[in-house]
Amino acid sequence: MESYGTLPDGREVGLYTLVNSHGLRAKVTDFGAILVSMETPDRDGTLAPITLGFDTLEGWLKDDCYLGATVGRFGNRVRDGKFTVDGKEYTLATNNTPGGIPCHLHGGVVGFNKRLWDAQPSADGHSVTFTYLSPDGEEGYPGNLTARVTYTLTDDNELIWEAEATTDATTPLNMVHHTYWNLGGDLSTPILDHLLALDADTFLPTDSGLIPTGEKAPVDGTPMNFKEPRVIGERIEADFEPLHLAGGYDHCWVVNGEPGTLRPAARLSHPGSGRVMEVITDQPGIQFYAGNFLPNYRTGLCLETQNFPDAPNQPAFPDSLVRPGETYRHVMVHRFGVE
Ligand code: GAL
Repeated sequence: MESYGTLPDGREVGLYTLVNSHGLRAKVTDFGAILVSMETPDRDGTLAPITLGFDTLEGWLKDDCYLGATVGRFGNRVRDGKFTVDGKEYTLATNNTPGGIPCHLHGGVVGFNKRLWDAQPSADGHSVTFTYLSPDGEEGYPGNLTARVTYTLTDDNELIWEAEATTDATTPLNMVHHTYWNLGGDLSTPILDHLLALDADTFLPTDSGLIPTGEKAPVDGTPMNFKEPRVIGERIEADFEPLHLAGGYDHCWVVNGEPGTLRPAARLSHPGSGRVMEVITDQPGIQFYAGNFLPNYRTGLCLETQNFPDAPNQPAFPDSLVRPGETYRHVMVHRFGVE
């Protein structure tokens, strides 16, 4: 552990470096359980950073794009910032207004990404576990929630982000890992030349406030079809209503196969560098966000495995409630390689 500076209230922030036997390197911090950087080799073996980030803690303190963040309690959007549990309505911050329509986004005003977590590096040096106790009522959510996130860098060139949580009162939960990837290694270049494949036959269309309508729409015959690898820039400006509403790709795809079992969700590759990243998850969905709101437009893309947006308000969507006695689990594997 090295010091990553101090918070305005004086608490010390740590930076942890994970290195594997092939030289891949991940840096994580207990502020926000954030992935600060990830470096992998290209096809010639040259190591380069492939995630968007900041040089210092100050950058993450000010960040409003959730770079590398662990997002919670509920990642993605909740309609009107409201949900009902056991007949009681809860009101959350409406901190986002797509299409001029207020909604709750990524856990609220001070989400998990702005909290200082406890850190516990593993004895073998391959992983770090971060723990955060989110008190009852925080950001409007019910229950004292204990959230845990473990980053592991394996010798199989996998970066694993694993979340689990328990609560003493029923609460919605959708913990999301929010790294922006740019496999080219030049973080100022747009990601439009990357090839993406998604293991998804359907996606979730939204209204103009980017809340899912509830429909699962087939991707066939649309610019949302990534069943085979496709260049991201090829259809991002296509004349297709869901792309107009979101300003590009920013949607949740329904990952094929059974939620709760680990299965492939996405494969991202960059022809120039040869870098490849596969994403494997146990979650129902994957939000592919092309960085349309980034100040440096589309210089990174997110592949966020998660439950469906607005799940707390949509009974047909997978259950998003964690109850006392239950353990929430979310596994996300990033497997790196070259071709
Ligand atoms: C993404 C979301 C985008 C945007 C972004 C943060 O997860 O899909 O719409 O809100 O986070 O800037």
